Amino acid sequence: MNTQPLLSVRNLRAHIGTPRGVVRAVDDVSFDLAGGQSLGIVGESGSGKSVLARAVMGLMPARSGRSGEVTFQGRDLLALTKKEKLEVWGKQIAMIFQDPGRSLNPVIRVERQLTEGMRRHLGVSRSEAHSRALSLLDEVGVPDPERRLTNYPHEMSGGMRQRVMIAIALACEPDLLIADEPTTALDVTIQRQVLDLLRRVQRDRGTSMMLISHDLAVVAGRTDRVSVMYSGRLAEIGSTREVFENPRHRYTHALLGATPTIDHARHAPLRLITGSLPDPTAPPEGCRFQPRCAFALGECSTPGLELTSVGADHDVACLNPVVLQETAISGGTSDGR
Ligand SMILES: Nc1ncnc2c1ncn2[C@@H]1O[C@H](COP(=O)(O)OP(=O)(O)OP(=O)(O)O)[C@@H](O)[C@H]1O
Ligand SMILES: [Mg+2]
Repeated sequence: MNTQPLLSVRNLRAHIGTPRGVVRAVDDVSFDLAGGQSLGIVGESGSGKSVLARAVMGLMPARSGRSGEVTFQGRDLLALTKKEKLEVWGKQIAMIFQDPGRSLNPVIRVERQLTEGMRRHLGVSRSEAHSRALSLLDEVGVPDPERRLTNYPHEMSGGMRQRVMIAIALACEPDLLIADEPTTALDVTIQRQVLDLLRRVQRDRGTSMMLISHDLAVVAGRTDRVSVMYSGRLAEIGSTREVFENPRHRYTHALLGATPTIDHARHAPLRLITGSLPDPTAPPEGCRFQPRCAFALGECSTPGLELTSVGADHDVACLNPVVLQETAISGGTSDGR
């Protein structure tokens, strides 16, 4: 695996102006993603996952501001012209949006939406694009692909549209795939199939992937690394195994419950923690989880909290992190790690 970062995000901020005030949806987020690697981004609803994905792509809502650095294959994504963005989107970076209904063009048939990018970016002929479209639809579990190609989006169910979105995202074999809750409209069996397909494609083609979900079970076992987002910030990031087995942030630990293993997460939805996310227009200083944290110290509300390394590939932004023994005693790993 190539260990040079393919994507490097530094001090990214994405703030959105609303009548209630400025929503600090993404506030000083930094991480790297290596070529061929998959990074899960988890966090409860409203923590900023979708805004983060869109900010990386350069897709921001109206009345919003963005600062920081986003470097992709050595290029500054924040400085791209509109024309350059169109070259990068789809071909180098593709995104599966959380809401498939709004991402497909309602007045264009599936075939054209699926083949347009291939023809433009890969320069393939019409018939080559047609046969690639058929095999992509087949790959994402769309029955009778020949007929589906002639459909308009409204002629398909939500689940079918979501699979078409995934096929469109994969069509140009992008270097980076950003999948934002890619399986929400699908039933559980298809969900697993599609997630496993994404993982297989990501591995086989050496594609890097950001897999966003509010569900820990979705990223467990399907990502190399995981980051936990809370109120616009990263609370913890590291190898998926390490974060699941030895969560150090009090928030991650609470989310995972007393037996924080990848196997456990496969069967456990995100745990509910009492309280709710802070007001995004006026988050607390210091650790934003501190008002809900039973282990908060006085200094947790001091500004300047940063991610700090606690292991080979494990960083945490917590002044009173879980000590490894606590995890073991509360029923975590028993292999001494
Ligand atoms: N277009 C917008 N205008 C105003 N506020 C927005 C907009 N988009 C997002 N927000 C706000 O930004 C914050 C982060 O939202 P975001 O959609 O990124 O959360 P999320 O983690 O993706 O949640 P979910 O799991 O529900 O998809 C929230 O407070 C949300 O209300
Ligand atoms: Mg979202």
